[in-house]
Amino acid sequence: MSEIKPVFKPNREFAKEARIKNICEYNELQEWAREDYEGFWDHYAKEKIDWIEPYHTVLDESDAPFVKWFDGGKLNVSVQCVDRHLKTRKNKAAIIFEGDDGDFRTITYLELHFNVNKMANLLKNEFGVKKGDRVVIYMPMIPEVAYAMLACARIGAIHSIVFGGFSSEALRDRIEDADARLVITADGAFRKEKPYMLKPVVDKALAGNTPVEKVLVVKRNFEEIEWVEGRDYSYNDMIDRQPVECEPEPMESEDPLFLLYTSGSTGKPKGVQHNQAGYILWAQMTMEWVFDVKENDTYWCTADVGWITGHTYIVYGPLAMGATTVMFEGVPTYPDAGRAWKMVEKYRISQFYTAPTAIRVLHSTGEHEPEKYDLSSLKVLGTVGEPIDPPAWEWYYEVVGNSKCAIVDTYWQTETGGHMISPLPGATPIKPGCATLPLPGIMARIVDVEGNEKEVGEEGYLCITRPWPSQIRNVWGDEARYRKSYFGDVKIDGKPVYFTGDGAVYDSDGYFTIIGRMDDVINVSGHRMGTAEVEAVINEDEDVAEVAVVGRPHSIKGESIFAYVVLLKPLDDNGPRDAAYVKKHINGIIKAEIGNIAMCDDIVFVPGLPKTRSGKIMRRILRSIAKGEAITQDTSTLEDPSVVQAIEKVVKGS
Ligand code: WTA
Repeated sequence: MSEIKPVFKPNREFAKEARIKNICEYNELQEWAREDYEGFWDHYAKEKIDWIEPYHTVLDESDAPFVKWFDGGKLNVSVQCVDRHLKTRKNKAAIIFEGDDGDFRTITYLELHFNVNKMANLLKNEFGVKKGDRVVIYMPMIPEVAYAMLACARIGAIHSIVFGGFSSEALRDRIEDADARLVITADGAFRKEKPYMLKPVVDKALAGNTPVEKVLVVKRNFEEIEWVEGRDYSYNDMIDRQPVECEPEPMESEDPLFLLYTSGSTGKPKGVQHNQAGYILWAQMTMEWVFDVKENDTYWCTADVGWITGHTYIVYGPLAMGATTVMFEGVPTYPDAGRAWKMVEKYRISQFYTAPTAIRVLHSTGEHEPEKYDLSSLKVLGTVGEPIDPPAWEWYYEVVGNSKCAIVDTYWQTETGGHMISPLPGATPIKPGCATLPLPGIMARIVDVEGNEKEVGEEGYLCITRPWPSQIRNVWGDEARYRKSYFGDVKIDGKPVYFTGDGAVYDSDGYFTIIGRMDDVINVSGHRMGTAEVEAVINEDEDVAEVAVVGRPHSIKGESIFAYVVLLKPLDDNGPRDAAYVKKHINGIIKAEIGNIAMCDDIVFVPGLPKTRSGKIMRRILRSIAKGEAITQDTSTLEDPSVVQAIEKVVKGS
C-alpha cells in the first residue's frame, strides 16, 4: 500500500498569487484551527458572510451528533450569492450558459438578481410557497435551475433536486418522502442535438395521490407535452409579470436550505439535509481555497445540478464568492471528443472540474484532442467522485494541464456539503491518485473501530473527528437513521465520530489516499448506488427468488453493477423465457424504478447465494468472483460452502 508516488510541486508563478501560498501557510491555518477551533470558524464566518443579524454561539455541541453552527444568526443565502455582489460586480457574468448546440447566453449578477427575485415572487405570490415548504426540482442544466434554487433560498423554501436521469418512481419516492407541494420542471432539453423529455416523467410520478398541488414548467425544447389544467403552470407565460424585487426572508443559521437524496448501504435513499449558514460558508471558503478563482477567471464544473457537486460547485460556491460559473447543457464528448477543450478555449476557462470517469472517456476517445486547442488559460484542474487511476491522472496533468496546472483531487461527499480532503493548488505538493491533506479546519483521521490511529500503509476507517460547518444536519424525518448511518460505527475516546463509509490509508508524508467505500455502496461513474436499493427493485421481478449485487471494476465507469440472481423456476432455454429475456426484463424494471444509471452490466443466474448460517450474504466472496479473483476468504462458515464453486462455474461460463 505504501508505494512511493512521484511528487509534483505547485507552479511557482501560480503560488505567488494564490490565497494560500505554501505548505507553511497551510500548516499555520491548520494549527490555528486545532488550537482554537471556534475562534478559527468565528473569524471566517464574520469575514465571509453578510449577516442580517449576528450569531451568539459559534458551535453548540450539547446535543451531539445534532450540532448547531452560528446559532442566533440570521442571513439569506440568495443575498450571499447575489445581492451582495451588486455593489461591485453587477455587470459581471454570474452564469455563462452553453447549450447543447453550442449556443450561449450570459447572465450578469444584476440579471441573476432580477431572475431570482421574479421567480421568488412567482413561487410566493402565485403558488403560496412559504418558508419551510419543500419544493422538488426536476430540471435539465439550464440557468432556470439556478434561479429556482436561489428563489427557494430567498423565500426560505427547502429545495430537493432530483437528478433528471432518475425515473418517475424514484422521483415519486422523493416527492413523497419530502412531502413536497410544488414541482419545478421543464418540458425537457437537448442532448446530442436531439430533444429529450422530463415533463412526462413528472406526469407519471404524479399519477394517483401525491402531496403535489402545482407543477411549474419551464419551456426549453418546446416539444409537445400534456397539460393538466389547474395543476400545470407555464413559467414562460407567468414570469414576465412578476416584480423584480422580492424581500429576502431572514433565515436562522440552522434553518434547512435543501435536501438531496443519496444512497446508503441499507434501505431507500436518504434525504441529506443541509442548513443555511454553515453550508454556504464552507461552499464559499472551499471555492476560494481549492479552486483559487480570481476576479477575472471563468470557472467550469461539468457536474449535473442533480448531484451535490452541482449544488456546491456550480451554483452556491461560485456565486457566493462572486465568480463566473459555466453551466453546460450538453455532453463533453459531443459532437466530438474535443467539445470540452473547445469550450475551455472559447471561454478561456481557468478552472476545470470534472470526474475521473469523464477524464477516462475524454482520454480514451480523444487522447490528442487537447493538443488541438489553446488551453493556456487553464490554471487548476479538479477531480471528484472516485479515486483517480494513474493513467487518467497523468494524461490530465501532462496533456490537458501541460504539466503546469495543479490537480486538485477533491475528496468529499453529499453529506459533507463541501471538500474535506484536497490539495491547495498553490501550496500542496501533489501525488497522482492522492487526495493529500484535510483542508484547514477539517479534522480527519484514519482509525480502527476503537478509534486507534492506523499506521502508515494500513487501511482504516476515514473519520472526521470534529463537527464542521457544512456537515449533514439530519436525514430528513429520520433522526435515528442519521445517528446510525454516520455516528454508529466508530468511537474515539468513547465518543461517536463521523464515519465517512470510506477506507483510506496514510502514506509516509501523512497524506491521505482514499481506497473507496467500506460499506455496500457501489460507485458507478461517480454516482452512489446502494446495493440494497438495487436488490429491492430486482426482487420485484416475479421470476426472482433472491438476488445480491456487487460492484465490479470497470475501465470507464470505475465500477459497474454485477447481479447474482437465483430464479424461482428454471429458464426456458429454447422458449420465450430464456436468459436474455429475463435479463432484459430485470434491467427494464431497474430502469423504470430507479433509472438507467442503476442498470446492471452483468446478470448471472446462480443456484444459490453464499450465506452464513445466520443468513447474511457474504458479499466479499461475490465481489471476488465478479472480479475473477481466487477466493481467499474462509468459506467453512457458510451454510453451504459448495455453492461457491457452483457460482464460480456459472460466472466463468458466462
Ligand atoms: C467517493 C460526491 C476518492 C467516496 C462529491 C465518497 C472519492 C463518495 C472522491 C461520495 C475522491 C468522492 N477520491 N473517492 N476525490 N470524491 N469519492 O455523495 O467513496 O456522490 O464517499 O459525493 O464518492 O459520493 P457523493
